[in-house]
Formats: sequence, structure tokens, C-alpha cells
Amino acid sequence: MDAEQTAQRQVSHSQSSHSQASHSQASHYSQPDVDFKLDSMIATRARHIPGNPFAMGDARVARAVANGEDVIDLSKGNPDGEPPEFVIDEAVRATHDPADFRYTAFHGKPAFLQAAASWYQREHGVNLDATTQLLAVSGASVGIGLVLLTLINPGDLVVVPGPYYPQYEGSTAVAQGRLHAIPTDEEHGFLPDLDAVDEAVWSQAKLLILNYPNNPTGAVATPEFFAKAVALAKRYHFIIMHDFAYAGIGFDETAPISLLETPGAMDVAVELCSLSKMYMVAGWRGGFIAGNPVLMDAIKGLNLQTTLLVTSTVLDAGTVALNSDQASVGVLAARYKKRFETLKAGLAQAGLHLCEAHGGLFAWMRVPQGDNDRDFTTWLLHTAGVAVLAGSDFGPTGAGFVRLSLLKPESELAEATRRVCVAIRQRR
Ligand SMILES: Cc1ncc(COP(=O)(O)O)c(C=O)c1O
Repeated sequence: MDAEQTAQRQVSHSQSSHSQASHSQASHYSQPDVDFKLDSMIATRARHIPGNPFAMGDARVARAVANGEDVIDLSKGNPDGEPPEFVIDEAVRATHDPADFRYTAFHGKPAFLQAAASWYQREHGVNLDATTQLLAVSGASVGIGLVLLTLINPGDLVVVPGPYYPQYEGSTAVAQGRLHAIPTDEEHGFLPDLDAVDEAVWSQAKLLILNYPNNPTGAVATPEFFAKAVALAKRYHFIIMHDFAYAGIGFDETAPISLLETPGAMDVAVELCSLSKMYMVAGWRGGFIAGNPVLMDAIKGLNLQTTLLVTSTVLDAGTVALNSDQASVGVLAARYKKRFETLKAGLAQAGLHLCEAHGGLFAWMRVPQGDNDRDFTTWLLHTAGVAVLAGSDFGPTGAGFVRLSLLKPESELAEATRRVCVAIRQRR
């Protein structure tokens, strides 16, 4: 966490404790009647966690809107459309089904786990045993937290290509591990050169986190890249967690690949999948973890004592979604690709450069030469009325870039592009 994030976090902490205090006075709660400091009771794992850039981004946008600014918010990856009708119909049916009023099976309804296994087989040619190699979770985020808590002891090293999805850093901090980012660059399609990583890093690594299609860069993995990662994991004895939250959302002719397709991956890996983006149900909270049965058994054990069950109706709707022909996911991928191309062409008119995206939901843009990405983000918000996230929110290797969401209708993206171009031209 850099100084500004630390400061922001401290501010938001003090703001929230301030508002709690005023709220509590109203509810007849003033000073704690105890002779020790409550702060001192907070566990170490909860004291040293970075702020959540998405929450901080939301707060920035809310402040700007409260000040009367007209903002187009491209800072978050919140789906802007609707799930397919047949998925909504199943959620409605399930809501009225008395069987769904009850607790579900602990690791997920068997029909859901079977649907996930069939999806893996159909889409990726991967064979999974639904009872030993799959676990339903309330979204990939829950999966990230579970896997890290299952594998990481205090001090263990977690390696991740940077820039990275911020929760990897946060969940590593919760598990009290250490995060090491290996840099990537545009020239190499934002895939890290695994051969260039110092042997000492691999020797210490307990877990390598990968994420393709990548948030924020839009990079996709090749079979060769995954094969190299698996070979390194076997050689240096570490586990790989592949965050496949953007499965199905690819812009190229070949669909994004699952790590589990890689020969030997099942010996050392788990993969996280999400219903959120494939079916536009981010608010429903559904997904699954798949992979090596020994690792899955431990993850399930931890899950039984922490997050437990996934909402029954979400599992039913997820079952029909996973069992469908995935045509709706293809439509989404094509839509996002078109939006990316429109944005890229539009921003190029102001001399702004979007890195090539091969999948996912975001555009990764270089800030104009000489600009700092945090300052540029603030300037863009207040001058153009366009909210984006600073690249530094995705770790130090994200400095010099900003991330723009593609999850707005083309008309809004066009207006955002127009505003940015006007602001940039006026600045010159
Ligand atoms: C890379 C990545 N992983 C995980 C998630 C979380 O997904 P879910 O909604 O399934 O928790 C996101 C959400 O944007 C993401 O971008």
C-alpha cells in the first residue's frame, strides 16, 4: 500500500469511527465502559490489511456526485446488462420452491456441481469428479479468500504477476503471507517472463496466483505459458491458483483456456470460476472452485468452518446457466470486444493509447507522458467527469496506467470518450 492509500484508509477509518460515534450517541452509546482499548483487541490479521480500491473509488465518485459533478463511472466492473431470460426464470421458479427454503448440501447442490463438471468437460475438455474436485462458493472472491487461508501460513510467499487484481494482496495480508509481484509489460502482452524470475523467488514460493483473461490488462494465457508455470510448480514445489473469473469472455478466435487443460496441472492447481460475469449475475454471488482433490479437500474443510453454503436459488439458476449452450456468453464477449475497439479508436483521437485487450471487461490505458496515474485519475474525474481507477490500485507495477471499465452501453462510452478528448485537448 502506498502513502496515499494508507492515508485514504486512515481517513476512511476515522470517518467511519466518527460516524459510528455520532450514530451511537443517537442510540445512547457514548464511551465504552471498559478499562482497556478496544483497538488493542483487533487481531493482527485485521489490522494490517490494505484498503479496498474499489470501495475507495466508489467513495470518490459519490463525493463528486454529491458536489454536483456529472460523472460517467468507468471505475468498476459491474455488469450493465441482464442475465439471460431462462436464468432469471429459473431463479424465480427456485424462489418459490419449498426445497430451496432449506439448507443446501454443504459443498453445493449435487446438480450444480454436476453442471460445473459438465461445463468443464464441454468447454475445456477437463474431466472432474463432482464430489471430490468441485466446491460451490459465493463468487470467485470467496474462493480467493478460502484458497489463501487454506494454503498460506504467516510469512509464506505468494507470487503474482503485476499488475494484479487487488484482492490477491488483501487476502494474502489476511493470511499474513508476503506478496511478491513479478512485472509484466505491454511488449510481452502482459504475460510475465517466468524464466526471468529469480530462482530464489521460486524456491520460496508457496503459491503462484494467475488470472487470465486478466483484470486489469486484458491479457490471455497461452498453452505454453501455462505449461511453463506447471513445470515450475512441480520443480520448485508450489501450488498454482488460477482465477478464471472471466472464462468465456475472450476477444480472439480461440476461447480463453482453463489452466486445468494443461497436462499435469491437476497435480498442483486449483481454479476459480464465477457466475458473475459469464451470466451477468454479480449481485447473486455464485461460483465454484475446481482442481486437485487433496487441495480441494482442505479447502472444503476450511469452507465448512467459515463461509459455508451458497444461496440455494443461485445454485439452481447457476445450474441451468452452466448447462446451457453458452451462446449468451459468446454474445457478451462480442459486445465487450466491440466496446473495446470503439473506446480504443475514440481515445486515439486524443493521442491516448489503450493496450491491446484479448478478453475480460477492461481497457488498460497509458497515462499521457509525464503524468502520475493517481493525479491523472483525479484530474479526469473533476475535469472530464469520467471516473477510472489508477493503475497503482493494481499494485506498484500498475503505475503509469489507468483502468477503464467496458461495462457501459456504447452511447455512454462514446460520451465518456468525447469528454476525455475535449479535456485532453484543452489541457494542451
Ligand atoms: C479477477 C477477478 N477475480 C475475482 C473477481 C470476483 O468475482 P466474483 O463476483 O465471482 O466474486 C473479480 C471481479 O471483478 C475479478 O475481476
